[in-house]
Amino acid sequence: MMKRIIFSTNNRHKLEEVQHSLGDAFELVTLKEVGIVEDIPETGETLQENASQKSHYVFDRLGEDCFADDTGLEVVALNGAPGVHSARYASLEKSDSKNIDLLLKNLSGKLDRSARFRTVISLILNGQEYLFEGIVNGRIIEDRRGCDGFGYDPIFVPDGCDRTFAEMSMEEKNQISHRGRAVAKLVEFLKQYRSDGII
Ligand code: IMP
Repeated sequence: MMKRIIFSTNNRHKLEEVQHSLGDAFELVTLKEVGIVEDIPETGETLQENASQKSHYVFDRLGEDCFADDTGLEVVALNGAPGVHSARYASLEKSDSKNIDLLLKNLSGKLDRSARFRTVISLILNGQEYLFEGIVNGRIIEDRRGCDGFGYDPIFVPDGCDRTFAEMSMEEKNQISHRGRAVAKLVEFLKQYRSDGII
């Protein structure tokens, strides 16, 4: 029997990506599909707190297995900023282009441009919480390159590459990205759990 898990997102694209990696042993459903239409609070000071807050919110409401993710860009010369504030770094409304402008301004003249993306996933399965982390190290370049992807993709070049995330196909990015790596750990865990006959 297919096991249902709520993915605490309304981003269909993210959901399809994870569903694809999971195969058909699990059926992922979005917040909207389970009737949660309000914005879930994200008031934590860390990625882990936010991911946890989002998964607990869903679990408290419905008592069902669920997971949530939270991602941030951590820049060394800025002491880890924008970090947990990545989505609204430049202004209260979410604007990728204003965020990039501000980051480039704050980094101008800095020699160390190293940075990393980090994703934390909080899974609640049978009432127990499990955490998964994915990291990709890289650097912030001086000008935007490429038009695929979203967020800070046009200015982030992962280590070992000469192209930005915005110059890569989605498959290529997923292979090495923070979210791809965190999701791979989640998928491996769920498959193992399933094959052990626990759920
Ligand atoms: P979220 O937790 O996935 O909503 O991500 C928070 C913010 O981090 C987004 O609004 C983006 O600004 C940034 N971000 C997350 N993932 C990526 C990515 O894969 N590439 C570029 N920016 C990202």
